[in-house]
Amino acid sequence: MPHLKVTPFDTSLIEQKIGKDALLRFRATALGGNEEILGVEYKNEEFLLQLKPDDKAYLLKYDKVTRPLKVNLLKEALDYVSKRLDLEILSSNIAMHHAKPPLSSEYFKKIEDFESIVYPKEKISVEVGFGSGRHLLYQAKMHPDILFIGIEIHTPSAQQVLKQIELQGLHNIWVVNYDARLFLEMLPSNACEQIFVHFPVPWDKKPHRRVISKGFLDESMRVLRKGGRLELRTDSDNYFWYALETFFSAPETEVEIRKNERLEVTSKYEARWRKQEKDIYDIYVKCMKEDEPRAHQINFDFRGTVYTQGLEERLIGDAIVFEDYFIHFERIYKIREEGLLVRCAFGSFDRPEHKYILIDRKGCRYFVSCPVKTTVNLKAHQKIVEYLNYV
Ligand SMILES: C[S@@+](CC[C@H](N)C(=O)[O-])C[C@H]1O[C@@H](n2cnc3c(N)ncnc32)[C@H](O)[C@@H]1O
Repeated sequence: MPHLKVTPFDTSLIEQKIGKDALLRFRATALGGNEEILGVEYKNEEFLLQLKPDDKAYLLKYDKVTRPLKVNLLKEALDYVSKRLDLEILSSNIAMHHAKPPLSSEYFKKIEDFESIVYPKEKISVEVGFGSGRHLLYQAKMHPDILFIGIEIHTPSAQQVLKQIELQGLHNIWVVNYDARLFLEMLPSNACEQIFVHFPVPWDKKPHRRVISKGFLDESMRVLRKGGRLELRTDSDNYFWYALETFFSAPETEVEIRKNERLEVTSKYEARWRKQEKDIYDIYVKCMKEDEPRAHQINFDFRGTVYTQGLEERLIGDAIVFEDYFIHFERIYKIREEGLLVRCAFGSFDRPEHKYILIDRKGCRYFVSCPVKTTVNLKAHQKIVEYLNYV
């Protein structure tokens, strides 16, 4: 990732050389450390650069949380800074590459996209943890009238399937590289025909990591249309009994069980079990009710929060854990006497958000973008606002 290693230089020149009319918007210094963060705006994009001074060399590098999608933008900004400050480069990797970023495809969707997405088809089906994608690709080919949303947490599998979508000329698949346990919340009510969960990881020793849970079931029943089905396929006896117990708790459903049912397409994973003559179970949960449209008013407003003297001392500390979420002010950077840049982690234990909060005498905002609009993030946000205002 883009960085420059340079000989130590006079950092008091930073504002003069790259301030205001150039790209620097603010400069913050770590509490209890000497590293700095430069808040920049370059070609209409905001992001952060980190400056880590050391005796022999200073490292100027990208910041992971605010990294812009186009890596070349970062490289250009670093190059600009090094030229304006006349830095003596010891090593760097800011040579431009024009290859496509790894997940660039019109069929790749970010979770944030779903906050205002337009669905190109009336019918939607979802596949959770599609792995090699055989089943997903097959379904999409057989049902061109349905949009298939595949959710896979493993990035290389997502990349591979995106390649296959292009190779096979399919137009009705979206790939989301995210945790399926949090994704369903982004979908509208009564929208889905089917939700496939084929051979989920059984997590016998860490059951809290399982995809199937009471919460996942409730969300599945909300997003399925009346008559739509959640379909679990598993080779694990344990998972089968666990899922069955979970599914029986849902009101207004019909549950159906099959054993060793042949599907039209066999995944690589399934083929392995078939060779070993293992039993395979299906559980279908049919949704028998219509849901209310989701009242999703999620707003990450800081409601007049401003910087007050000494706030930094009140924020330092360990993670604060609540029933289904946490907040952690991980690192605090001071912007002169006027404000703070706070790096924090918060939200669900499974998929925490990492964000910066920029707070000064005039106001407060997430830098660069707001968290994903999930209810657990909203709860964490409301707690953060309480902490920022607690006197
Ligand atoms: C055992 S593989 C099965 C793959 C495929 N369904 C098949 O039948 O061959 C389980 C897949 O689920 C994915 N996975 C596990 N947890 C997930 C989660 N929380 N959200 C999305 N995908 C997940 C894994 O990365 C893996 O690709």
